[in-house]
Amino acid sequence: MTKVLVSDPIDRAGIDILSQVAEVDQLTGLSIDNLKQIIGKYDALMIRSGTQVTSEVIEAGCNLRIIGRAGVGVDNVDVHAATKKGVLVVNSPGGNTIAAAEHSLALLLAVSRHVAQAHASTIDGGWDRKKYLGNELYKKVLGVVGLGKIGSHVAKVAIAMGMEVIAYDPFISVDRAQQMQVKLSELKPLFEKADYVTLHLPRTPDTENLVDENLLASMKPTARLVNCARGGIIDEAALANAIESGVIAGAGIDVYANEPLEKNSPLRSVKEHLILTPHLGASTAEAQENVSIDVAEQIRDVLLGLPARSAVNIPGLSAELMDRLKPHLQLGETLGLLVSQLSGGQFNELEVRLQGDFAQHPSQPIVVASLKGLLSSALGERINYVNASLEAKTRGIHVLEVKDEACRDFAVGALQIITRGDNGEHTVTGTVSPDGDLRITSVDEFPINVAPSQNMLFTRHRDMPGIIGQLGSLLGQHNVNIASMQVGRKIVRGDAVMVLSIDDPIPSNLLNSIHSIEGIQAAHPVTL
Ligand code: NAD
Ligand code: MLT
Repeated sequence: MTKVLVSDPIDRAGIDILSQVAEVDQLTGLSIDNLKQIIGKYDALMIRSGTQVTSEVIEAGCNLRIIGRAGVGVDNVDVHAATKKGVLVVNSPGGNTIAAAEHSLALLLAVSRHVAQAHASTIDGGWDRKKYLGNELYKKVLGVVGLGKIGSHVAKVAIAMGMEVIAYDPFISVDRAQQMQVKLSELKPLFEKADYVTLHLPRTPDTENLVDENLLASMKPTARLVNCARGGIIDEAALANAIESGVIAGAGIDVYANEPLEKNSPLRSVKEHLILTPHLGASTAEAQENVSIDVAEQIRDVLLGLPARSAVNIPGLSAELMDRLKPHLQLGETLGLLVSQLSGGQFNELEVRLQGDFAQHPSQPIVVASLKGLLSSALGERINYVNASLEAKTRGIHVLEVKDEACRDFAVGALQIITRGDNGEHTVTGTVSPDGDLRITSVDEFPINVAPSQNMLFTRHRDMPGIIGQLGSLLGQHNVNIASMQVGRKIVRGDAVMVLSIDDPIPSNLLNSIHSIEGIQAAHPVTL
């Protein structure tokens, strides 16, 4: 029975989906050691931000096929280790967008109107209306750093509230920003001009401590800062100092460099003008249901052999694309598998040529499929769409892709796979018929037209009378049934190839006899 481990608290809706296809164990609060001990039993792991999926955990997951992160950030998963092991990592990129955007807006308002401090004072018996004089957002400048999904929603609501929005995001075009009525700015001018700054960018080596003492010092003394993105982007000690010394007017923070926030964090000692929440950005009932359903559906699909829609470690390969390109991917994989067997596995370069109409398809998935086929003779079931590119790189295989729209050999175009290495160069070409059937259309320089089948025999021979007959009788004597046979040659009595589809694999002793037929130069049994 397929087994799924859910190791963080996850909304019930996702558990119900997983239970349709697997036995689901919910074990939360496991230490890394506990997780390592039990993970070997599971085909899938579903987590939120609590579970640390380290390389050791992934290594111990001998049956693990997929890790599903019910949320956006995968910083608690060693994605590189997962990719290397061929374990798919999926997330829910949009399930908690609104929740995180609304929490950012809640902090913007709360920090402007001292909501938390005023509440605490009132509970304590106070009635201090003067102390908690606030500011309006209306007509103020909001600086958004990171204008992605969450940043754009915050911008939209802020504009509706009468704010002027400027943004810093090096990966967003001026046109896109204009459509959102947002003016793009550089980072420092944004911090200088804004009355409020809100962060919505990922934590990466480039963004660590991006908001440091200097950037904080460039803000207006009346300005306030909100971070609902990721801890580690703001230098926390510098922020605590900036608030206490009046360099800025306040901040609202949801995420921290180390979570849970350390007991002795300098942020805990700032009593006024700072509101801290314990990573609550995605904590709405709606968002938790969304991410749970989104990720559970993807785990279910992958366990049923279907593609996932939000794979983190096979970017650009959506379910929709996989579905549309299915025959092309099958062709890439089949040709990769064929050429690896014809070349004896000795290659250090792979060239993938998309010809004619094939050139109009996205090449990356087809290259990945070809690599998967190419490496599966060597790596068996360990190779998959997730780790194919990384495995090729590790093995020093140089990958080239060429698009040649002008080539019109077949009405629907063709895919050509070339390997180069110690055994020279090998080329196979194939195509997909309009009804989706695969054809192999050439081997090296010889034209053929055969459907791939599970067991095949490819020979190189001299085109002379008697060879076909001798090979046919030899196979017959060894009880190997021939389903179809085709010869490809360029000139009469020159070099030629013979391609046989056979119902049974070729026994190894038979291969020696085939090699001894006069005129046969090479014979390769192939399993597809
Ligand atoms: P997104 O990928 O849609 O947007 C991120 C944006 O940041 C992109 O537009 C990207 O171009 C931009 N960016 C990348 N590097 C940048 C840089 N150096 N400077 C400026 N911009 C840069 O992601 P999203 O869904 O909008 O999430 C934004 C952040 O919020 C992420 O860090 C995510 O992990 C976090 N998040 C937090 C919570 C929470 O609970 N607090 C919930 C959801 C998401
Ligand atoms: C996320 O990355 O989705 C957020 O940090 C929310 C979370 O998982 O709690």
